[in-house]
Amino acid sequence: MAPRILIIGPPGAGKGTQSSNIADEYGVEHITTGDALRSNKDMDISDMDTEYDTPREYMEAGDLVPDAVVNAIVEEALTTADGFVLDGYPRNKEQAEELTDMTEIDVILSLEVGREELIERLTGRRVDPETGDNYHVEFNMPDDEEIRERLVQRDDDTREAVENRLDVFEENTAPVIEQYADHDGFVEIDGEQTPAEVWADIDAAIQAAK
Ligand code: AP5
Ligand code: MG
Repeated sequence: MAPRILIIGPPGAGKGTQSSNIADEYGVEHITTGDALRSNKDMDISDMDTEYDTPREYMEAGDLVPDAVVNAIVEEALTTADGFVLDGYPRNKEQAEELTDMTEIDVILSLEVGREELIERLTGRRVDPETGDNYHVEFNMPDDEEIRERLVQRDDDTREAVENRLDVFEENTAPVIEQYADHDGFVEIDGEQTPAEVWADIDAAIQAAK
């Protein structure tokens, strides 16, 4: 059976980068609440009795989008997925309880990276709007000038929003990771290594869980 994988960690830990590797190697679906919300930033959520009428306000500030919106996205994505890597969910204890009711998880990959490194990665990140590929102003710029010129910064990668996202993570998501530490499939991954080294550890952890 295709593996059901959860990847969890702070903003900038490399969840998106490594989820792409997992999806390619294991042929599972990449379910990501962040990307799903970014493609639907202006959807009308006012009928859910939320403070703001669209996800945009929450996201640009680096706050969590209300649970009801995110739970619905994941629930729908899971109904069609045979094996998946879930990235960006759950982010608080309420979402973790919802997920327990939706599906079982075989492997939980917890990516660990220190705060200073995360700030550097996120404030320097640039995204290619055409392909979604991630780059970095210092560590990883494309050789192709045409691509370099069209790179953009994510709205929530400003210093202020990044600091808030990291605080939101500490307050809401870190306690979820503590709970998951008792799960049979839980594995801690050193996310400060090079992307290739991180991938080697992740691949080994998934193989070991099979
Ligand atoms: P989301 O899109 O999930 O953002 P995030 O969790 O803040 O994480 P990022 O996508 O910024 O980082 P990442 O871990 O994927 O790292 P990446 O691989 O890109 O969420 C955005 C917003 O949506 C939230 O703030 C919230 O508002 C809302 N939202 C989403 N889910 C929600 C939920 N469940 N509930 C409520 N609201 C929700 O890497 C980062 C950078 O580092 C890149 O430049 C990359 O090239 C580089 N890099 C990666 N790996 C390495 C490495 N090993 N060494 C050096 N550089 C590296
Ligand atoms: Mg991401």
